[in-house]
Amino acid sequence: MSYYSDHRVLVTGANRGLGAAFASALVELGASKVYAAARNPRAPQPAGVTPVRLDVTDRGQVVTLARELSDVTMVINNAGIHRRATLFDDDAIEVVDSMLRTNLLGMLAVTAAFTPALIAHGSGVIANVLSAGSWLAGPGNMAYAVSKAAALSLTNNTRAELASQRVQVTAIHAGFIDTDMMADFPGAKLDPRSVADAALAAIAAGEQEILVDEMSRAAKAASIAPVPRF
Ligand SMILES: NC(=O)c1ccc[n+]([C@@H]2O[C@H](COP(=O)([O-])OP(=O)(O)OC[C@H]3O[C@@H](n4cnc5c(N)ncnc54)[C@H](OP(=O)(O)O)[C@@H]3O)[C@@H](O)[C@H]2O)c1
Repeated sequence: MSYYSDHRVLVTGANRGLGAAFASALVELGASKVYAAARNPRAPQPAGVTPVRLDVTDRGQVVTLARELSDVTMVINNAGIHRRATLFDDDAIEVVDSMLRTNLLGMLAVTAAFTPALIAHGSGVIANVLSAGSWLAGPGNMAYAVSKAAALSLTNNTRAELASQRVQVTAIHAGFIDTDMMADFPGAKLDPRSVADAALAAIAAGEQEILVDEMSRAAKAASIAPVPRF
């Protein structure tokens, strides 16, 4: 019996990248059920993974799926997008808007729809995939950073709201991960499976904030330093 054998887990954005790594790791950890949610579910899926259709920006689809999967005890809010934008780009507002719809409002919609079943079950876990970018600022990174900073605040507020409900709310932060999202980044990147393994071990240990690597630890440390003068 592992910690995960008691859990039925929904992973969003599970077709590829970090989400697919979470799904495989959960199967190996003996999770009682692994629902791999994707906009266009892949076939065939790895053994032990149940594909379900979910676009996190489609509120109707989110609510319907939560009704269908009322046995879920853990949600890993992993679905996310990354697009570059700077202040004076013609489409800067559209880019920020699309990022917020997926990375913030998608996470909120899924959390709100699935949490009542977790509470009814008597306990559960919401794990939100954030980023070192939740705390970083840099040219071109505005839209993603704004969305992840807002998602961090959503995570903290969700934890505060659920404090008395036996629902663990965990934030997962990492630097660069070797997935399609960072395909153009030439530097060193984390293996997605190692990120999933570290995060799942920390969730099982009851941690509320997981800083997977040195980049996320440094970003968090810098965030509590005084803001430099202009
Ligand atoms: N890669 C990094 O360096 C890095 C670092 C820190 C945190 N993260 C975070 O890790 C998470 C996973 O990213 P990744 O690196 O694995 O990127 P990825 O390879 O680009 O995968 C993103 C996944 O999210 C899904 N997705 C996007 N929009 C969606 C929507 N509206 N509804 C449902 N699913 C949607 C994609 O589905 P489709 O296949 O349908 O497009 C895909 O499965 C994201 O939250 C990301 O911000 C990534």
